[in-house]
Amino acid sequence: MALNDGNISAKDFGKDFKWGVAMAAAQNEGAHNIDGKGASIWDAFAKSSSKIKGGHKPNIACDFYHRYKDDLLLVKALGFSVFRFSISWARILPDGTGSINKDGINFYHRVIDECIKLGITPYITLYHWDLPHELEKKGGWTNYYVNKWFNRFVTICAEAYGDKVKNWIILNEPFGFTSLGYMLGSHAPGKTGLSNFLPVIHHVALAQAEGAQIIRSKVPQAYIGTTFSCSEIIPFSDKQKDIDAANRVDILMNRLFIEPTLGKGYPTEDSFNFLEKLHMENKAWKYTKRLQFDFDFIGLQYYFPVTIRHNNLVPIVNASEVKPATRKVPRTDMGWEIKADSFYNIIKKMWQYEGIKEIIITENGAFFKDELKSGIVNDVERIDYFQQHLQAVLKAKNEGVNIKGYFAWTLMDNFEWTEGFNARFGLIHVDFETQLRTIKDSGYWFRDFLSV
Ligand code: BGC
Repeated sequence: MALNDGNISAKDFGKDFKWGVAMAAAQNEGAHNIDGKGASIWDAFAKSSSKIKGGHKPNIACDFYHRYKDDLLLVKALGFSVFRFSISWARILPDGTGSINKDGINFYHRVIDECIKLGITPYITLYHWDLPHELEKKGGWTNYYVNKWFNRFVTICAEAYGDKVKNWIILNEPFGFTSLGYMLGSHAPGKTGLSNFLPVIHHVALAQAEGAQIIRSKVPQAYIGTTFSCSEIIPFSDKQKDIDAANRVDILMNRLFIEPTLGKGYPTEDSFNFLEKLHMENKAWKYTKRLQFDFDFIGLQYYFPVTIRHNNLVPIVNASEVKPATRKVPRTDMGWEIKADSFYNIIKKMWQYEGIKEIIITENGAFFKDELKSGIVNDVERIDYFQQHLQAVLKAKNEGVNIKGYFAWTLMDNFEWTEGFNARFGLIHVDFETQLRTIKDSGYWFRDFLSV
């Protein structure tokens, strides 16, 4: 597949195709304790853990809270017509459950109003990884009551913004935050082990379906989606052991949350039954039913493929990644393999599921070590990454996959979770000392790409 000729433009995707940029509250807003906001698990994690590079904290981040008007002008200037952002639960409900923070509600009204004024369509993500810290103290996503708490938060948001915003995304990458935060402990809240991970999977899968039902019942004409991270899982060799190992990882990384959503229950297979406990519950018809929701669109987020080999030493999954660096393949400065063919392959694979009506690529992007020199960031590698990956999307679309949009990750450099502020994914460079924004060449590239 020739993915790299770069000779495509937005026109090739059709005139109704949605072009957007995405960002997230905890990564961009800052104002971590301003106007009544409560702490999130990321505020707490940044204080207490040594896992965030450079000891960086999301306290100020890009200061989007105060600069949203200028930042939305930049969205407009680059030619994007969709702005995807998330709502900080702890800004709306400082302790997660109790009284509503009016200032928090008003902040998102201002953002939404500004979008509408500029002719930009807002897409709200309800949960992009920043649980209120007060809820984490009660067990967070492991607590049975988390669904009650989440449903109330969703209800408040739907009632506040539902007459202005029709596009809703329930969760950002459930596999990402459950595995990193509650199994491996590398992300907030830093919990580990199956005793945390298993109940969290179930509560999160329920939250996804119930949150969507609430939006459906409260927001007339809502267009509802949720997002899944996806990676092509490639066996390291054609030995059966490696193929089986890759299959187990595929169950975890690609199938765990989408299959219950589509009414198939959890993806347990005889050969890999770590989900047995959930499977038992899942046999009850009521759970399979309760986990299902007829989404209007599925958000797919792609960054890299994963190569897997059998490894007895790794408990449960008996598999490990063969890191891109050891295979000397092209990679981003995050160390992630660059392989647009895998993007195409995983889109095609996901599209085979029955029950998916529309797909939006809700995130795709790359970190490269940018250099700001005399007001210019000549990020040719990022431009190349976008070109290759857009070609992959177009190819899948032209072959009949119903892809309705593409949202680049991300508008501007921001707080990249445990990587802190040095892993820059933005189309716009941010000087975190002065908050000066500089459009990178990739941002100008998008502007030209979209203007045709
Ligand atoms: C997340 C973003 C993150 C990006 C790059 C995605 O999985 O949704 O929040 O910044 O990956 O790591």
